[in-house]
Amino acid sequence: MSSKVYIETYGCQMNFADTEIVLGILKNNGYSVAKSLEEADVVLLNTCSIRDNAEQRIYGRLGNLKNYKNQKPDLLLGILGCMAERLRKDLIEEKKIVDLVVGPDEYRRLPEYLDIAFSGDKGIGVRLSRTETYDDIEPYREDGLSAWISVMRGCDKFCTFCVVPFTRGRERSRSLQSIVQEVENLSLRGFKEVTLLGQNVNSYRDGENDFADLLEAVAKVDRNMRIRFTTSHPQDMSDKLLFTIAENPNVCNYIHLPVQSGSNRILELMNRTYTVEHYLNLIEKARKIIPGVSFSTDIIAGFPTETWEDHLATLEVMKTVRYDGAYMFKYSPREGTKAYKMRDDVPDDIKTKRLQEIIDLQQTISYEKNQELIGKEEIVLVEGFSRKSEKFFSGRTDTNKVVVFPINDSVSVGDYVKIKINRATSATLFGDYIEQYQQKDSLVLKCL
Ligand code: SAH
Ligand code: SF4
Ligand code: F3S
Repeated sequence: MSSKVYIETYGCQMNFADTEIVLGILKNNGYSVAKSLEEADVVLLNTCSIRDNAEQRIYGRLGNLKNYKNQKPDLLLGILGCMAERLRKDLIEEKKIVDLVVGPDEYRRLPEYLDIAFSGDKGIGVRLSRTETYDDIEPYREDGLSAWISVMRGCDKFCTFCVVPFTRGRERSRSLQSIVQEVENLSLRGFKEVTLLGQNVNSYRDGENDFADLLEAVAKVDRNMRIRFTTSHPQDMSDKLLFTIAENPNVCNYIHLPVQSGSNRILELMNRTYTVEHYLNLIEKARKIIPGVSFSTDIIAGFPTETWEDHLATLEVMKTVRYDGAYMFKYSPREGTKAYKMRDDVPDDIKTKRLQEIIDLQQTISYEKNQELIGKEEIVLVEGFSRKSEKFFSGRTDTNKVVVFPINDSVSVGDYVKIKINRATSATLFGDYIEQYQQKDSLVLKCL
């Protein structure tokens, strides 16, 4: 009987996509997927190191699993992902918690490392690669509406606060051909949405093609599929890319464009390679080229030396751009990064206060922006029942807003429907069903 594997995934979407790659590799090597922890022979945690609280959460989970393993001594316990690169010594040699530590570029050899672990040794594979893209691996995916595809791996930007260049290694891209083929297969299987992923997705380059070429090629596969992408770095946001988004009706009008801080002094210390002025010009240009485009962002509160004025400058950028959404974090020092050598001199209570102000402001802006949509019609991809009740469906607009509306016999999951918005909170739009949405002229109508 084949061994069963259970994977718990933490961190960013790229980690979730990697879990599907890992399951693809393991299935090709005779493993099967456990539906629950209880039936698993191998439990793997695909981990994230981005902030200290992410790692603490995983250590907590490992503690539970260690107790569980005491009752089930044959169980193999392993760490995948970003913590594998950072903490292999700690995890295997000092804390003796796990049997297996395998980093993001060594998944192809995971079956070998599992064999080693099954035979009683420790399986350790943490080398980073300049070439591995898992181009030829078919990820294991349940049927569904929405799929992720990692189109590039690693990061060369070295923002001074960030562990990713150390945990994921150098940038490299998959071939356009293999990505297009994967999207074709997803379309045949009935998927309705694909998100192209990369830490700097817009610095994609496969030798001949840039990210705009890739986006165009993927968008052409099936005009009934929505195409999303994340994360874009402001430095690599070319005009060509903006026009490609504008010209392809099924590429969503939504750009996640992290700003991190509104202060030029802090941006420079962060090595973000742009100024606030450059960033705001970019937003303005994108809004001209792509009417109705919406933006979300990432913001860090309390980077070393951040003053009250720097913090106010961040609030100012938020007011100027008026993001549709934001991921907001307290600065967390990461060993090995450049910023780690700067003194973490903003006291925690000040960080908390600034973060709260940032969150409050964003909530007000999101609320106001959503109120402006009342009375308007939105095209929604129906994803399933709403979280709170099976009397309501839930779906998203192309600008990634959640819309909830009463169920209706003529609507099924996977349909595109027109909804008239009648109420809104800062996080959700509510509306009434108008009609099914048929794509009439893909080149005229923007984003389904
Ligand atoms: N590649 C993406 C995102 C990487 S991680 C980009 O360049 O934007 C996601 C977000 O986590 C970052 O945008 C940043 O806002 C946040 N982050 C990364 N390192 C952090 C740290 N040490 N402390 C707090 N937040 C951090
Ligand atoms: Fe980290 Fe910066 Fe790379 Fe994003 S661009 S992954 S924040 S180093
Ligand atoms: Fe975390 Fe690694 Fe992603 S550190 S955010 S899982 S690239």
